[in-house]
Amino acid sequence: MIDIHSHVLPGVDDGASSLEAAKLMLAEAQKAGVRTIIATPHYSRELHENGMIDQVFDAVRNEALRFGIKLLKGYEVKIHHYPGRMPRDFSGLDLAGTKLILLELPLDSVPSYTPDLVYRVQLQGFVPIIAHPERCRRLGRDREMLEELLDAGCLMQIDAASITGVNGGRAKRFARKLIKKGKASFVASDAHRPYGYSVWYTKAYKKVVKWVGQDKADDLFRNNAADIFGYVDEGNAVDVS
Ligand SMILES: [Fe+2]
Repeated sequence: MIDIHSHVLPGVDDGASSLEAAKLMLAEAQKAGVRTIIATPHYSRELHENGMIDQVFDAVRNEALRFGIKLLKGYEVKIHHYPGRMPRDFSGLDLAGTKLILLELPLDSVPSYTPDLVYRVQLQGFVPIIAHPERCRRLGRDREMLEELLDAGCLMQIDAASITGVNGGRAKRFARKLIKKGKASFVASDAHRPYGYSVWYTKAYKKVVKWVGQDKADDLFRNNAADIFGYVDEGNAVDVS
């Protein structure tokens, strides 16, 4: 499994509270069959520019190796209500050195400049991934905006916890719809703490197998990421027997 969205780095956002918590998250990821994690702290200018992220990343990467997990670096970039707070230049904010940028919508709205932002990201040569679209209540009601983002070439990443119902029935139904209609490209943990990580991930995988079959589930949990990131992940699929 390849987890492309995780808040495993301690002390840089609302994710892992300490290195010990990060280690517990790595143990949980290992249990779930995850062999590659992209650490995606919430982007902030301070975090990015003062080099703090590099020190924290190096410490957790070394711990991850003990669990047989390859740790890669990325960011989750929130689409603020106020466009002036967005970075102008997305270079260095990509997932693991690829051309992918993980963008997070507010939970309650889709800022009207979002299509323009997507275009700006693309003009810089990047491909936007919308993080957990199923959790954005406004997007669930605004089919036109959803189609506009998909037509523009945005990829969609669903949270495992949404699939298991942890984020509510509405998010689960929206996640199921996106997956069944083939509009989603990835499932990731978006884990902020050890609690629930392996259980939700494993349950989500089994649920997606039920919805669309094992081949498509493997695409969402591993193969699509492996294709994009250009390496083969050695993690075993979850036993669904
Ligand atoms: Fe996140």
